[in-house]
Amino acid sequence: MPHFQAQDTRSCISHYMNRNATMIILSLFHLFSLGISVSDAFLVGPLQRPVQISRRPTEALKLMRRQREKAPSVPVASMTTDTEEISPSAMAVAFDSINRCRYACTRFRRHAEPKKEPAQITAIAKEGKNKAIAEPTASESDKIVIRQVLHCLNIARRAPSGFNSQPYRLLMVSSVQAKEALAKCCHGRNADRVRDSDCTVLFLADREWGRDWTRFGKFLDARNEGNPIDKWMKRKIQMLVLLFSSGYPLPRFLSAPISFLVRSIIGFMGAITRRRLLVPTLSSAETWSTKNTMLVAMSYMLAATSRGLATCPMEGVWVPGIKRALGIPRRYAIPLIVSTGTPYHTPTTDLDEADDVGMAHGSGSDKATPRYPLADVVFADVFGSEAILPS
Ligand SMILES: Cc1cc2nc3c(=O)[nH]c(=O)nc-3n(C[C@H](O)[C@H](O)[C@H](O)COP(=O)(O)O)c2cc1C
Repeated sequence: MPHFQAQDTRSCISHYMNRNATMIILSLFHLFSLGISVSDAFLVGPLQRPVQISRRPTEALKLMRRQREKAPSVPVASMTTDTEEISPSAMAVAFDSINRCRYACTRFRRHAEPKKEPAQITAIAKEGKNKAIAEPTASESDKIVIRQVLHCLNIARRAPSGFNSQPYRLLMVSSVQAKEALAKCCHGRNADRVRDSDCTVLFLADREWGRDWTRFGKFLDARNEGNPIDKWMKRKIQMLVLLFSSGYPLPRFLSAPISFLVRSIIGFMGAITRRRLLVPTLSSAETWSTKNTMLVAMSYMLAATSRGLATCPMEGVWVPGIKRALGIPRRYAIPLIVSTGTPYHTPTTDLDEADDVGMAHGSGSDKATPRYPLADVVFADVFGSEAILPS
């Protein structure tokens, strides 16, 4: 510990800041987080639940859980990644091609019709076949596709996330019952996509990362086995994730003034120590977890495309209904769901193929959906200045 002259207050503060600024900020957040459980119980819950829905699992959900317990499991963890050597140029060609081939598939091929329960068959026989055709039901899924999807999800988990915090869960919906339950919460033709495709992956963004504090701590410990992570370093990383994920489930009206307060304190400290202390801009908990989750979603879609599977990303869904039907905890947002399977037929740009919002889709460079001109979107150095390709 260096010795300071009594009159050298500025250098003393500066030294103190140097070593302890982070700890002070983190401690402040720790204090704030103490009050959060209270705010969660009394403020966030009522504010974040616009539609009052029962938290008790529905009969359908209980049935689905029982069936899952009986079903043989596919060990995802045992799936290995091919490490075959591939030249950099071949990789670039492959990636460009995969990227161009991805398109939002508007219609999927049904793998097989579901085997009906005996009671259902009797009812159909009584009421006449037409009634049965008019009633839409989810299709039976192709097990080979499901296996590929699991592999793609495993690969997609390689997507980056802030501090490697991985604030997401991925729910793969492929049983007839679960698909049907999900389809009932999807708008327009999105429901048909869920019913006809082999599976739909739900990308769940964790808005309450703070609840994973211990899990993340164990994760940090485990990855440094034999060379345990320094306790203070671990706490620092955990605190930083808490900071970026906007504390716990803090409501915006609390997190905004806290953020302002912390910024002001840091600004003040910067002024007295004559140092420029940069503070990252914090977003809401949902924005933070969504940005991390969407990278996994995109990686997943490209992985699926590379295996010849068609995907359709969708946001036209009724989230509270989905959560209730599939037993998803309230802490998760559902920014995107992605139906995956075999396309009904090779897409074209015919008007007939337009989706419900009039967009025509297609794979390959000649048929792909248009994008804004490059110069409108990609800039160099300064916002608005055109990026010129080097000759
Ligand atoms: C966040 C997001 C939400 C979307 N929601 C829907 C949707 O609800 N229904 C749908 O048919 N397509 C949906 N799409 C697909 C887009 O319409 C499609 O990606 C876009 O028109 C570009 O077409 P392309 O993917 O074939 O290039 C969505 C895509 C994204 C990225």
